[in-house]
Amino acid sequence: MAKVLVVTSGKGGVGKTTSTAALGAALAQSGQNVVVVDFDVGLRNLDLVMGAERRVVFDLINVVQGDAKLAQALIRDKRCETLSILPASQTRDKDALTADGVARVMDELREKFDWVVCDSPAGIERGAQLAMYHADQAVVVTNPEVSSVRDSDRIIGLLDSTTERAKRGEKMEKHLLLTRYDPARAARGEMLRTEDVLEILSIPLLGIIPESEDVLRASNIGSPVTLAHPDSAPARAYFEAARRLEGEKIDVSVPVEKRGLFDWLFKKRVA
Ligand SMILES: Nc1ncnc2c1ncn2[C@@H]1O[C@H](COP(=O)(O)OP(=O)(O)OP(=O)(O)O)[C@@H](O)[C@H]1O
Ligand SMILES: [Mg+2]
Repeated sequence: MAKVLVVTSGKGGVGKTTSTAALGAALAQSGQNVVVVDFDVGLRNLDLVMGAERRVVFDLINVVQGDAKLAQALIRDKRCETLSILPASQTRDKDALTADGVARVMDELREKFDWVVCDSPAGIERGAQLAMYHADQAVVVTNPEVSSVRDSDRIIGLLDSTTERAKRGEKMEKHLLLTRYDPARAARGEMLRTEDVLEILSIPLLGIIPESEDVLRASNIGSPVTLAHPDSAPARAYFEAARRLEGEKIDVSVPVEKRGLFDWLFKKRVA
């Protein structure tokens, strides 16, 4: 039975889609059977980042509406055979995602995979709530800046109140993924300190992903950074985060700048 993970944030453009692809590919490379699901109806970004856009025939809405079988819409990654994507529709009406239809598809995905990683749209409205509703765990993607932290705080409130787990009175496991972290700006005090973000949001730290050209380069060739540049600093941070999701207790590496390159000097206990 799969674990369902939602990658969510509130604020847009903080790195949800990038992180869904990178974490999904990292989990798949450790032998887990993974599907990444694009809930961002209308924008359809995840298939681009995964390099699957030319292979999309059917999408989540087709399956939710019963116009296609799940197997017809799933796209198997060409580089990693334990990784699949369920794409979103670019054109259709967001209201086509009915709660009952999504519940049926999620049940089917749970049967087939070890991990179901859901890429949420930005915001706190219906689309984001549908993406988080069936989750067992959440990765809250946050940039070290005030507006992003504030929106993450609101999302944490929703995770604890409007999800299926919350309604059953069960705990939702939440993890903080700090992304687009710039060690040079952090050293100059131009970003919120990690400690401050952790204190405000008070959920455990899953990882700190540095701002990096490698992420952009990977995205430009349609590949998760953990497949395209597995030795790069952001990929290593994502691999670490994936190991933590699988239950390993390892220290969080804090990226620091060293002669223009990222290095990993500091180790820190997971909160
Ligand atoms: N660690 C990083 N280093 C550099 N660029 C990054 C990093 N993470 C994400 N980006 C870039 O930031 C932009 C936004 O990322 P992404 O699309 O993953 O965010 P999102 O939260 O999914 O956005 P939306 O809310 O619009 O869905 C993209 O251009 C992406 O390549
Ligand atoms: Mg996105």
